[in-house]
Amino acid sequence: MPVSTKPSFWWRHAVIYQIYPRSFADANGDGIGDLPGIATHLPYLVKLGVDAIWLSPCFRSPQIDAGYDVSDYRDIDPIFGTRADFEHLISEAHGAGLRVIADLVPNHTSDQHPWFQQALLSPPGSPERARYIFRDGKGKHGELPPNNWKSVFGGIAWTKEPERAGPASRQWYLHLFDSRQPDLNWDNPEVHAEFEDILRFWLDRGVDGFRIDVAHGLIKGKGLPDFQVRATMVGDHDDKTPSDAPMWDREGIHDIYRSWRSILDTYPDERMLVAEAWVKPQERLARYVRSDEMHQAFNFDYLLTLWNAQAYRDVIDTSIQAMNAVGAPATWVMSNHDTVRHVTRLGLSIPGTRPAGIGEKDEQPDEELGLRRARAAIFMTLGLPGSVTLYQGEELGLPEHTTMEARFRQDPAFFRTEGKEIGRDGCRIPFPWKADAPALGFNTTGKTWLPQPKSYKRYAVDQEEKNSDSTLALYRQLLKIRKERGLGDGALQWHESMEDVLDFENGSVRVVINFGTEEVPLPQGTIMASSLDLNQTKILPGNSAVWLENVD
Ligand code: NOJ
Repeated sequence: MPVSTKPSFWWRHAVIYQIYPRSFADANGDGIGDLPGIATHLPYLVKLGVDAIWLSPCFRSPQIDAGYDVSDYRDIDPIFGTRADFEHLISEAHGAGLRVIADLVPNHTSDQHPWFQQALLSPPGSPERARYIFRDGKGKHGELPPNNWKSVFGGIAWTKEPERAGPASRQWYLHLFDSRQPDLNWDNPEVHAEFEDILRFWLDRGVDGFRIDVAHGLIKGKGLPDFQVRATMVGDHDDKTPSDAPMWDREGIHDIYRSWRSILDTYPDERMLVAEAWVKPQERLARYVRSDEMHQAFNFDYLLTLWNAQAYRDVIDTSIQAMNAVGAPATWVMSNHDTVRHVTRLGLSIPGTRPAGIGEKDEQPDEELGLRRARAAIFMTLGLPGSVTLYQGEELGLPEHTTMEARFRQDPAFFRTEGKEIGRDGCRIPFPWKADAPALGFNTTGKTWLPQPKSYKRYAVDQEEKNSDSTLALYRQLLKIRKERGLGDGALQWHESMEDVLDFENGSVRVVINFGTEEVPLPQGTIMASSLDLNQTKILPGNSAVWLENVD
């Protein structure tokens, strides 16, 4: 069924599937996924039962940070295809009833962006430089960086510009990420105008919305004051990055989103904005989704919750409360392209830890236990009211590639920390479609930009499709029930339960998850779906979950 144009507030309850274009499907066989590859696999997504796809950036880029370094915001990178391929994908997706969310990167550009190149050729104080954050260095000869900020990817957040012709002194430029990702200056109206134009450009070409990269980072604190703590974003999302960090969550940011929202609202058919904002607590996050700002924000508190009933209950309650207070939907996400896949995290001795794929390299997860917990966790996630984002491959139960050799690694975080942090490559592995084909069916040539671990063979789509107990079959079943029963638009009501158990109802479905290791009795109600084969027994084993027909 094609995408409906009637008002539906689809973004309030949508299940959004994140596609990592480099790794989904490779039609031209060069080892990197592409847009034609995605287009031919849309039927798989329709069958899965999702409502929308979000594509990580496929705009023109030197691919230093896998496309989060854009050199032309109005063009598609040739490794992914052409603009015509993109427009074709949108129209195919719409025809199949799927919305398409693009990924906008407004905090920084690539250093190859013409603006940055012009800035380097222009003198200090020039309008060309005023689009970025250039400063004179400290020290007698400007040899020290302008402040002590550190890059999210490791090292300092400033780079001294390369030698120019002539006697002019060299300035430094700010980059919260890699040195090839200079931060834009959002105090400059020209930057605002440019991004408003980029939004319109893609809205006019039919995109249904944008995921806004580093949505909490655009405005920097006045005078760029020193700040001792490393500006971590993915990963150490804890109290180590206090709320007064001058590079995050500054007040002025909200004016930007108000103006973007007013642009989206001029389009008739419900375009949306979703914030990638690593902001704490939930009340701060809720400020990004006030009624005149964005539509939803990823819930990273949920993603980072450890495997514990009370911890989940708390995060679910606080999220719903905070979002309700501003009239926005709560959202739920367990994995993405920046974090260790949750199957793997849940198989660690402290289940749920090491979310950024960084830290000690030695603990090997218990993959079977992780998968068992991940299958239980999806009962909770898809049972909750609000919108859910799935990360490609979680429907197969894919684990992280935890044993990749250093020579294959590509994440700039690996290089900037000199290998101390292993980075995010392990969650970005090319997708296994067919167990016995070259590159597991990712393409026909067998080339892959990152190596696939051996274990991916048993998770291949063609294997899971043959097996009614597979994780793929489970996701399809739950997504179908979720849609039929309108769970996304429902409301949650808790039932009291034993310590390691969560028990809630959402309309006609009752959700019970056992986080412990001991079996527990199940409440009344026919089992509609279960993460293990329970055969209508009245016992719920440890690390498992059910949906029951709600008899209340
Ligand atoms: C967040 C993105 O999700 C991540 O992949 C990227 O490296 C940084 N932002 C910088 O754009």
